[in-house]
Amino acid sequence: MKQYKVYVTRMIPQKGIDLLESVADVTVNPYDAPLPGNELLREMKAGGYDGVLGLLTDRIDGEFFDACQSLKGYANYAVGYDNIDVPEATRRGIPVSNTPGVLTDATAECAWALLFATARRVVEADRVMRSGVWEGWGPLQFIGGDIRGKTLGIVGAGRIGTATALMSRGFGMKVLYTSSSNRRNKVLDAELNAELVPFEELLERSDFVSIHTPLTPGTRHLFDSAAFSRMKKTAYLINTARGPVIREDDLVRALKSGEIAGAGLDVFENEPAMAPGLAGLDNVIVLPHVGSATHSSRNGMAQLAARNLIAMLKGDRPETCLNPELFE
Ligand code: DGY
Repeated sequence: MKQYKVYVTRMIPQKGIDLLESVADVTVNPYDAPLPGNELLREMKAGGYDGVLGLLTDRIDGEFFDACQSLKGYANYAVGYDNIDVPEATRRGIPVSNTPGVLTDATAECAWALLFATARRVVEADRVMRSGVWEGWGPLQFIGGDIRGKTLGIVGAGRIGTATALMSRGFGMKVLYTSSSNRRNKVLDAELNAELVPFEELLERSDFVSIHTPLTPGTRHLFDSAAFSRMKKTAYLINTARGPVIREDDLVRALKSGEIAGAGLDVFENEPAMAPGLAGLDNVIVLPHVGSATHSSRNGMAQLAARNLIAMLKGDRPETCLNPELFE
């Protein structure tokens, strides 16, 4: 028997499990599916775990901490942490961590995959080819949006927003960005001569709007009918951040009425569901929250989350801690 007991709420890449097993007895949820909230709480009460490595689909709040009295730390297998009540964890003296950095490029590449695919109608055209109805080349078929020289608006120029913006270099794009703290992004200013602008101005001037802001009370439903009415009719919206940043019913209306040209979405307001009407639209591309789904990114997340949890088990500060004040 090892010194610690750890629970992993869903199977993650083996490299992370191997690291955890070097110090702890590890139990992994045997189903490749999220544990319903009550089952997770039951497992926590019964297991007497010292540490938990969990997912963005797990609710880590007061009820969870109550169920897990012996908890020394919680490691999120995600950079986004809107699933964790961090102030509550801090109040109880429980460190919590996330996985920034290791998934930056993968998520930025996913934003670009959606940008290309929506502008050039890749999925719609693929569907036509597979259906067998294509009768050969035509001058008016599948005309889409241009990319070179267009304006890219980055909403939230943190790590992933910055990486997404830098990838526009090959396409000579003008880059605008917003910042919740109104702070200039030195990298984007120096490398791209980018402009920090108010949110409304970004909406009005951008041909592509890419969302990279975390989900907070201030960003929930940031994109609603008022925001769509400010965007160009020819503009595309890309979201690889968190679904509830968009009011999805309003987006369906904007896409149907032609208020914006299209959308590429990797995340949804009520995952795994989509708003009624969204799936039937040709001018939207929908992915099942796969922004970080590359080999190096998912292995990196598993290893970073495991290292974080091991540090917390030992009473040390994890590399990417969400409540570092506990260690001051
Ligand atoms: C995250 O890390 O927050 C993504 O949504 C999943 O990788």
